[in-house]
Amino acid sequence: MVTQEYLTLAEASELIGKSKETLRRWDRDGKLTAVREPMSNYRVYKKEQVLSLFDDFFASKEIPEVSNAVVADREYRVLELFAGAGGLAVGLEKAGLKCIALNEIDKWACATLRQNRPHWNVLEGDIKNFDFSEYRDQVDVVTGGFPCQAFSYAGKKLGLNDARGTLFYEFARVVKEVNPILCIGENVRGLLSHENGRTLQGMISILDEIGYRVVPIQVLKAINYKVPQKRERLILVGIRKDISTIYEYPQPSSKIYNLSDALKKGELFDDDVPPSEGAKYPKRKREILELVPQKGYWRDLPIDLQKEFMGQSFYLGGGKTGMARRIGWDEPCLTLTCSPAQKQTERCHPEETRPFTVREYARIQTFPDDWQFSGSVAQQYKQIGNAVPVNLGREVGYSIVKFLNDHYGELKMK
Ligand SMILES: C[S@@+](CC[C@H](N)C(=O)[O-])C[C@H]1O[C@@H](n2cnc3c(N)ncnc32)[C@H](O)[C@@H]1O
Repeated sequence: MVTQEYLTLAEASELIGKSKETLRRWDRDGKLTAVREPMSNYRVYKKEQVLSLFDDFFASKEIPEVSNAVVADREYRVLELFAGAGGLAVGLEKAGLKCIALNEIDKWACATLRQNRPHWNVLEGDIKNFDFSEYRDQVDVVTGGFPCQAFSYAGKKLGLNDARGTLFYEFARVVKEVNPILCIGENVRGLLSHENGRTLQGMISILDEIGYRVVPIQVLKAINYKVPQKRERLILVGIRKDISTIYEYPQPSSKIYNLSDALKKGELFDDDVPPSEGAKYPKRKREILELVPQKGYWRDLPIDLQKEFMGQSFYLGGGKTGMARRIGWDEPCLTLTCSPAQKQTERCHPEETRPFTVREYARIQTFPDDWQFSGSVAQQYKQIGNAVPVNLGREVGYSIVKFLNDHYGELKMK
């Protein structure tokens, strides 16, 4: 067991979200000094040094700022599937794209979409029950964050019919029905390694079969796209095979925003976060979390409280750096989940001992303050936690607008 002042390589990597290889490089370059932890004799790093190197890493990153902003040459139309509470849809709208229809099964998420955009055509229900052929050749882009499911895969090249019963099948079925210029799927990073990569390969081969070539996959880090949160989204871009225009992912920004930028008046928002409802911790949990400093976690507690809080997990290995974690004002928030007070992925407010409120959650996902969420507080957290951060959606939206401007420009030249 390593004491609270020291971190193993794995713990340091988990805490600051940099790979073990990066940390080893910092170690080799002499930036990070390993010591033998006095109690366990493990090779470990001083937590203070790891955190300060992390701050320097961001401060010294000199990427010239480039703007992805671009104005659409004409009206571009989107069909958004698995729309949730509209994180991606609002981002695309900010980039100048027009959502002509949105499909979503969850009634509260649909209520959110309708409440904020009464003119949007929200198609509520299971995607399986909708025929989208009326949109054939009527939309430029089909987008959707289909939930990830395994295919029953027999080792052969996967075809559309083999994927029947999955939500990716529905996504591909709609793309085939609608025949857009491009389709964009978004998903979690885990899709890369799901079933040893076979799920993603299956998706690429299905899109190929229905006439779409997939651009090399990228996982975009939200912090590089004006989002004060270390969230990642895998983006799957398919271009109709008769189109030779090159698609380019949005350029990362040089500016990294932190929790203070999310919740206080500044570059991202014109005012401090408005008050709102939020979840609370039970009394004992609150008493214990009171003792955790900003950027700290369970290891910062006295040893008897570490044991009480962690229970059996105390004796199991692994850093568990998400447990009893308090976010600092000067760091980007860790990825928000669908519920604000989960034991493995705690994100306590920096000064007050409580989970983030609904509006704070929304700010960290870069939703505008006037975007209202329907349903109970738990339903609202779920919708926000499920969303693509709006600013990431906007930057992806710009990349789509640029692609479509180029494509229609090339058509005119022919
Ligand atoms: C990751 S969330 C999408 C988030 C959304 N793109 C955003 O940015 O807010 C996936 C959504 O798919 C919806 N969904 C799941 N199964 C569905 C189905 N069979 N038909 C339609 N929507 C479904 C879920 O309710 C959930 O809102």
